Amino acid sequence: MPKCVQICVSRSKIDIQIHHSKRYKYFLAMDDNLIQVTVIDRDGTENILEVPTDINLSLMEILKASDYEILATCGGMALCATCHVEVVEGLHTLPQASDQELDMLDTLPDADDQSRLACQMYLQNNNNGMKIKIKGALQ
Ligand code: FES
Repeated sequence: MPKCVQICVSRSKIDIQIHHSKRYKYFLAMDDNLIQVTVIDRDGTENILEVPTDINLSLMEILKASDYEILATCGGMALCATCHVEVVEGLHTLPQASDQELDMLDTLPDADDQSRLACQMYLQNNNNGMKIKIKGALQ
């Protein structure tokens, strides 16, 4: 069953909730600033994440909030590459990777032209339908 993540931002806090009900998924799909991203986990399991685009969270933060195993040792500074993902579909909808991101990807033996760092990906509405595969190291 697809996982859905709801992130509510108020002045004092950010609440993150994960839902599994189809009814709630349908409700979220009505939002203009909500896209669907297919996530392939390390074991090959595919889930559809509903990702809000009107908040300032990276894909790495969204994946961690959705209980995917991502180390993100550097906290999103593009210094550890443990948030490595392969963009299986939708790579053309992303902005170019920065030199720092490319330098870090160059250190990975399994990186290729479809590799990106999830911590450097801030998804927008035009990324709807993207498919990514989690590849980052777990140690
Ligand atoms: S979290 Fe360290 S490079 Fe992305």
